[in-house]
Amino acid sequence: MRRQLIAGNWKMNTNRASAAALAEGVAKAAASITDADLAVSPPSCYLETVGKALRGSRVALGAQNMYFEKDGAFTGELSAAMLVDLGCKYVILGHSERRHIFGEDDPLINKKVLAALAAGLAPIVCLGELLADREAGRTEQVVRTQFDGSLAGLTPEQICRVVIAYEPVWAIGTGRTATPQQAEEVHLILRRLLVDKYNGEAANRVIIQYGGSVKPDNAVELLGQPNIDGALVGGASLKVEPFLGIVAGRKR
Ligand code: 13P
Repeated sequence: MRRQLIAGNWKMNTNRASAAALAEGVAKAAASITDADLAVSPPSCYLETVGKALRGSRVALGAQNMYFEKDGAFTGELSAAMLVDLGCKYVILGHSERRHIFGEDDPLINKKVLAALAAGLAPIVCLGELLADREAGRTEQVVRTQFDGSLAGLTPEQICRVVIAYEPVWAIGTGRTATPQQAEEVHLILRRLLVDKYNGEAANRVIIQYGGSVKPDNAVELLGQPNIDGALVGGASLKVEPFLGIVAGRKR
C-alpha cells in the first residue's frame, strides 16, 4: 500500500506565536503516528519558526509556493534552494488560489515543478476543476490538461517524487466536499494518466491526495477510497484537534 500523506496548508493564516504553538501541538500529537507521513505548510515568513518547532518530530515542513529561477532580480519571490535551506521537504505548487487569484498557468507551474525537483524538494502539485467545468461535464478534460501541462517533461523517476493533489475548486473552503465516489473517480482518471504517460510502477507509487473541505467527519470515507492516498487540508489544519482527527481517519 502507498504511504499516505496528510498535509496542512495553512494559507495566509496564523502569526508567529500561533504558528509555533500549532506546529508544536501537531508535532506532539503526531509522535505516535508511524504509518503515515504528515506535513504542515505555514506562510513563508514562519517557515523558520515552524521548522524549529517541528525539529526532531515526525512532521515535515512544506512551503506554499516558490519561483523557478535560482536567484536574481525577482522581487518578492523565494527560490527552491531557499526553501531547502529552511528545511522544507515539500512545496505546494499550482494551488487553485495561485491559479485563479494570481493567474498562474500550467507552463509556469511546470517550470516550478522542475525547479523544485532539481533542488530535491517534493512538489505537491494541485489540480482540479471549477464548478462550471464540472457542471458542463468537462472535469476529465480539465484535469487531463492540467496534468499534461503542469507535469510536462518529467521522467518516470521524477514523477515518483511528485505528490498530486486533486482539489476540486468548488470544494475548497466551501464546506461542500466532493463525495468519496466523485473524488475516487477523478483519482482513478489521474492514476490511469500516470500509467499511460509513465508506467505501471510509477502509477502505483505516486501519492494522490484529495483536498477540499476535508474534515474529521468525512475523512474516513474519503481516505478509505482505494486511489485516495491522503489529504491536503486547509481550514481544518489550523487547529490541532481537527487536523489530527483527519489523520485518525486514514486507511489502516
Ligand atoms: P479547505 O480544506 O479549507 O477546503 O482547503 C483545501 C485546500 O485548498 C488545501 O490546499
